[in-house]
Amino acid sequence: MNGSWTGRAPGRVNLIGEHVDYLGGVVLPAAVDRFTTVSGAPAEGWSLVSDVPEGLPYARAVAEELGAPAQAMRATSDVPPGAGLSSSAALLVAVAAGLEPDLDGAAAALACQRAEQRATGVQVGVMDQFAAALGRRGHALLLDCATLAYRRVPFPDDLVIAVVDSGVHRSLADTPYNQRRHEAESGMPKRRRHVESEVERVRAFAAALDAGERGPLGELLKASHRSLRDDFEVSTPAVDALVERAWAAPGCLGARIMGAGFGGSVLALLESGAEAGFAAALDGWTVRFCRTADGAFAR
Ligand code: GLA
Repeated sequence: MNGSWTGRAPGRVNLIGEHVDYLGGVVLPAAVDRFTTVSGAPAEGWSLVSDVPEGLPYARAVAEELGAPAQAMRATSDVPPGAGLSSSAALLVAVAAGLEPDLDGAAAALACQRAEQRATGVQVGVMDQFAAALGRRGHALLLDCATLAYRRVPFPDDLVIAVVDSGVHRSLADTPYNQRRHEAESGMPKRRRHVESEVERVRAFAAALDAGERGPLGELLKASHRSLRDDFEVSTPAVDALVERAWAAPGCLGARIMGAGFGGSVLALLESGAEAGFAAALDGWTVRFCRTADGAFAR
């Protein structure tokens, strides 16, 4: 591997299917139009210059997974860190795309997952890396995490994705993520109830999108939130209050805590044209409106 390289990858939202990827469940994320770009070249030692702190262990781990020698790297990003848009997957997949642009997207995503697990000690699933690698504009990615089979589900142009930053930013390593994973794997009834019901909701959500029906979407998001709050216990009172505020906003179909939880962000789906009213109803919080985008390895 000689010479310099540049790779770019998007952040992601997860429409539905939370805390089920590492249990072989089905998830429905989408890549979104916020990007991390990394450039690099072989060097004497490892370095990363970036306005996002703490990226080097991730970037180095994925480069090592791909067999690259030491690299001097530079990253720029408009994926906000710690806010639930998976800035880590965007960084990992950008490095993979820069170093190995011809790699199969699923193989790249798996290398990125291993790298994240190694860099952080958090036993993350495959969802975020698959979305950043293989998402496609105008679509969500329906991924079966047991078989890694995926299918792209059309996402309508006139539905707006809003991501509300709860302001509670955290690194996954500082959360009970591994503990929740362990509780679910060992069959704790409440945790299993979430996993089983969430997988059903993912299937129903994807079927509604396939059929061009939006009636069921909002209730499925709300039910997902309640299950994450009460059965999987990954929400916080402040996020619950934010979600309820979103539910009450004009033009909001539904909303739920998104990503690992324990703070982070809230996903809401809005009718198009409802953006300004929604932002006004959530005055005081940062609301980001996103559009679906192509993953780094989407072809
Ligand atoms: C984080 C992990 C994912 C997934 C979600 C929860 O984003 O990186 O693998 O487990 O939490 O759904």
